[in-house]
Amino acid sequence: MDARVKWDRIYNKAGSNKPTACSSLIEYQYLLPQSGEALDLACGLGGNALLLAQCGLQTTAIDISPVAIGKLQRLATDSGLTVNAVAQSVTADSLGANRYDVITVSNYFDRELAPAISAALKPDGLLFYQTFVNDKTGPDAGPSNPEFLLKPNELLRLFPALSIVVYSDLGRVGDTTAGLRNQSFLVGRSVAG
Ligand SMILES: C[S@@+](CC[C@H](N)C(=O)[O-])C[C@H]1O[C@@H](n2cnc3c(N)ncnc32)[C@H](O)[C@@H]1O
Repeated sequence: MDARVKWDRIYNKAGSNKPTACSSLIEYQYLLPQSGEALDLACGLGGNALLLAQCGLQTTAIDISPVAIGKLQRLATDSGLTVNAVAQSVTADSLGANRYDVITVSNYFDRELAPAISAALKPDGLLFYQTFVNDKTGPDAGPSNPEFLLKPNELLRLFPALSIVVYSDLGRVGDTTAGLRNQSFLVGRSVAG
């Protein structure tokens, strides 16, 4: 089944709970600039996009599902926020170069897009990337297809040009009932030159 049809079905069935941003963006939102342009890539219902807009950033949100984008547009309007919500499949070419002060990606993983995501950041731009790992502590967390799961420390390898601001990949070290397990995240800063 094509991805748009699959995700439209999921979002048509989804309840009306307000989406939340990913945990790393919530925890480290104080790193965000006070103005500038932000992109929430594969935004779904746009929990990240709504937080970015609330923080004063001019926010674009892209997702392949027109149903999700329609719901996000209504949520933004109801909250008095402006989000440029676009129904489109994300490709390397569509991201452009040197365009965003902040990019967020959560619960979505396409390793082929990593170089284009890096290139789409302006100098000093921040990337917040949080998604599921292969080495899960339980079978139900995230996708089952390993193609969509991070290998150990893979975010570090995918974004070599970024300066690491915060990084987490706890794996199964220590008490696995504590801390963020099953997901890794990276906050990275684009450095000029
Ligand atoms: C698990 S959801 C995550 C949504 C959101 N980022 C979040 O954290 O709640 C994955 C999202 O990726 C979107 N997606 C899948 N393939 C895509 C593509 N090629 N281009 C843009 N969005 C895509 C889906 O429609 C879905 O909203």
